[in-house]
Amino acid sequence: MVITIDGPAGAGKSTVSRLLAERLGFHYLDTGAMYRAVALAALRENLLEDSRKLAHRLQTLQLAIQDGKVHLDGKEIENQDLRTVEVTAASTIVAAQTEVRDWLVGMQKEIGQTGNFVTEGRDQGTVVFPEAVCKFFLTAAPGERAKRRMEDLRKSGAPDLPSLEELEASIIERDRRDSTRATGPLVAAHDAILVDTTSLSKDGVVDKLESEARRKLAGVGVQ
Ligand code: DC
Repeated sequence: MVITIDGPAGAGKSTVSRLLAERLGFHYLDTGAMYRAVALAALRENLLEDSRKLAHRLQTLQLAIQDGKVHLDGKEIENQDLRTVEVTAASTIVAAQTEVRDWLVGMQKEIGQTGNFVTEGRDQGTVVFPEAVCKFFLTAAPGERAKRRMEDLRKSGAPDLPSLEELEASIIERDRRDSTRATGPLVAAHDAILVDTTSLSKDGVVDKLESEARRKLAGVGVQ
């Protein structure tokens, strides 16, 4: 059983997805962390500019994600290493590459078959789990999303914090790239429930999602 949560950066997906999974007793899958891990590998190995070499490297790259921990070629990656400004920018570039998407989408489908999941990303309700029982699409105004991203960066102890204006500009640019790419673009599934989180508290969003999810689950005979 899968519940999908898609939406742009900073719409509040991560925290809300994790909390919703906890309340429902589901696992949580952060698919953005998978794109970030590929981006980190590409940066480390200088493959970002060469999509053919990166596609080739995927044949040997070992990526594992379990209980929120990401392993690359058998080594655990610190969460803060996945959330630097460089990796964030590089993740949008690798996410536009069809080979990368095909590889990660296949992996995500397999993971989804191993239990009950709340999965979070951009294409979960449209491409990866079109048959999901319950789908959400979260949005928020760009200014509010920039503020939230800044808070996350501060908390994660990231060095060299950008200004709020820079963050908002990079969020808008990332939205543009994510929404216009040919494969798996950021778009709401036709049957997704849209939730604007701009003026809602985290608990308010989770309450709303939980009641919708429980209603949908009850509709298919799951308590
Ligand atoms: O959600 P995030 O900021 O951690 O995502 C990092 C990047 O990966 C972002 O540019 C969008 C991309 N992404 C994607 O294309 N598809 C997903 N399912 C998840 C993330």
